[in-house]
Amino acid sequence: MQPLRYGVATSAFQIEGATEADGRGASTWDEFCTRPGVVLDGSDATVACDSYHRGEQDLALLVELGVSSYRFSIAWPRVQPTGSGAVNQAGLDHYARLVDALLEAGITPLPTLYHWDLPLPLEERGGWPDRDTAHRFADYSGIVADRLADRVGVWATHNEPWCTAFLGYAAGVFAPGRREPQAAYRAAHHLLLSHALAAEQLRARRADVEVGIVLNLAPVHAEPDADPAVVDAVDAIQNGLWLQALTGGRYPDVVPHVSDDLAADLALIAGSADWVGVNYYTPFRIAGPDAAVDAVGQEVDAFPGAPEFSFRPRPPYTSMGWEIDAAGLEQVLLRVSAELPGTPLRVTENGASFPDATLAPDGSVQDDDRIAYLRDHLAAVERARAAGAPVQEYVAWSLLDNFEWAQGYTQTFGLVTVEPGSLRRVPKASFSWFAEHARAGR
Ligand code: FCB
Repeated sequence: MQPLRYGVATSAFQIEGATEADGRGASTWDEFCTRPGVVLDGSDATVACDSYHRGEQDLALLVELGVSSYRFSIAWPRVQPTGSGAVNQAGLDHYARLVDALLEAGITPLPTLYHWDLPLPLEERGGWPDRDTAHRFADYSGIVADRLADRVGVWATHNEPWCTAFLGYAAGVFAPGRREPQAAYRAAHHLLLSHALAAEQLRARRADVEVGIVLNLAPVHAEPDADPAVVDAVDAIQNGLWLQALTGGRYPDVVPHVSDDLAADLALIAGSADWVGVNYYTPFRIAGPDAAVDAVGQEVDAFPGAPEFSFRPRPPYTSMGWEIDAAGLEQVLLRVSAELPGTPLRVTENGASFPDATLAPDGSVQDDDRIAYLRDHLAAVERARAAGAPVQEYVAWSLLDNFEWAQGYTQTFGLVTVEPGSLRRVPKASFSWFAEHARAGR
């Protein structure tokens, strides 16, 4: 087996800022951030890390890190400000420059076409629960591919469609903040459909293209007081729905009627992923109902149709309140490789937010806890590989501290600190640690 390749990830909305530059349109997340109370620190991403204007600084960090690849996302509202029709060349130019600079530096660009920033006019027309959005996504993907497919061979369509569908349309804690369980299931279906339609667009422009989808999968464990029906439902919504559709199965029973064309849609989705990206942070431990439990980022409302339950994570935790369990990464990788035999896998996100309170003598962050997290999860990846899971790449989240969605700037996942105000980039100890691995992997 080839040695594991190393990369780091970011996403457009979380780092770029410059939300009105060069003809960018508004996204659902821009609008969501204006609502009182939805972002923990009341912040927004209008400036974020200002990476839109600091591409050279970020590239220098990637070069210093010695990574093989950089996973970033393309902001649909920069490319197509209203989500349909007119193309904004200035937006496309931005990503073309980024891709060229990466290639020049010997770093493989790993773009994700959708990391949650839906053009606002499309949400106003119904958003992901509306089938038309899937076709608009296919058009947008074709536009991007026309410009970049000659230089980019590996693509991801969606990042964590579970979050888009169930945190956005059922729990309502992410944009667009809707609490409509039935709509969330339709969104899930249209996200998968749009992935398959986008893959067709990419393949039409480049025969040897490798199109993947990035899923956030989690092992689902039952505590002694858990209702087995809940455990099955949570597993079905988090994992089974996506994996079964991609393997050519049908949806799990918890999924209601989502399409009048279901059989044809599922036929299109089956086999549509050349590779699968796995984002892993924490396992799920399902317990009986307990109103007192409220684990950050583990929203019971995001599992519509599952009987009442609670999450019961075990220590140690990251600052997100997420249980640290490296073995869970090995488990999900083995599961995906068993369900999609032969399909190449990438760990497309893995990492941790910690307080970053311990400083080295030079004032940089001495984040031994993050180093331990990465070390243990990398070991889990190597175990999965040794057991036969075809994992090609490990991509850490994240290059930079950035806008962590509903947590605002209160969570720091970066290998690099971004100082508030000055936005100066200061590598943490984990950056040097990761660089040693990345260089060895090259
Ligand atoms: C994932 C997201 C990513 C980041 C990490 C911490 O769910 O894909 O953008 O927020 O969590």
